[in-house]
Amino acid sequence: MIKISPSILSCDYSKMGEEFENMKKCGADWLHIDVMDGHFVPNITLGAPLVKCLRKCSDLVFDCHLMISDPQKYIPDFIKAGADLICFHVECDSPIDDTLDLIRENGKIAALAVKPGTPIETVYPYLEKLGMVLVMTVEPGFGGQSFMADMMDKIVALREECAKRGIDMDIQVDGGISLDTVEVAAKAGANVLVAGSAIFGSSDPKETISLLRSKAAKYF
Ligand code: DX5
Ligand code: ZN
Repeated sequence: MIKISPSILSCDYSKMGEEFENMKKCGADWLHIDVMDGHFVPNITLGAPLVKCLRKCSDLVFDCHLMISDPQKYIPDFIKAGADLICFHVECDSPIDDTLDLIRENGKIAALAVKPGTPIETVYPYLEKLGMVLVMTVEPGFGGQSFMADMMDKIVALREECAKRGIDMDIQVDGGISLDTVEVAAKAGANVLVAGSAIFGSSDPKETISLLRSKAAKYF
C-alpha cells in the first residue's frame, strides 16, 4: 500500500500544529518527523518534548526518523511522546538488536535506515524484526537536496530479499522525492514516500500528495 509521509523538516516551525492538522486534510497517511542531534548529522532539529505537544494536533502515524548517534538512550522518550514508528540508522552507535527489541516490546513499529554509502545487506540480519526499511536517497541532514537515483538498486535488492523470505516489508525512500522522481522510486519497489520540500513548497499540497500517490500507485 502506498503511504505518503510529508517531512515536517520543510514546514513552517512557527505554526507546526496547524501544519500537522493541514497535512491530514491534504490526504497525508503519515507524518515524517526528522530528529537530528548535530552529531550523527550536521544539523539539529527537534526532540521528544515537541513531539509530545504535536501529538495533540494529529492522529496520523508519527513516523519518527532518528538521525542521532545513540537512539537507544532516547527511544523511551519518543515512545512516551507518542511516536508510532521509530526508525534509526544502522550506522548508529547503539546495539541494533537491543534497540529494535526496545521499540517492539513497547508495541511500536521498528525500522532501520541506511545512508547512501551503506550497503543494503547491513539490514538483512534484522529483517524479521522490522516493519520498515528506509533507503536514504540523499545524505541525511538537510531537506531540498537532489534525489540519488543510484540508490534504486538497493531497493530492488531489498524487495527481492524480502520476497525470498516471504516478508511484506514497507520500503521507505527519503530525500529528493518529487513529482519528477517518485515514479523511479516506486518502480524500484518503494511504497512509503517521504517528501518535504515537494509538499511544503507546493502551492497546492493536497494536489501534490494526490499526484505523488497516483504516480506511485502505477507500480503497486
Ligand atoms: C533529510 C531528511 C528528509 C528531508 C527530505 O535528512 O531525512 O526527511 O526532510 O526533504 P526533501 O523531501 O526536501 O528532500
Ligand atoms: Zn527523514
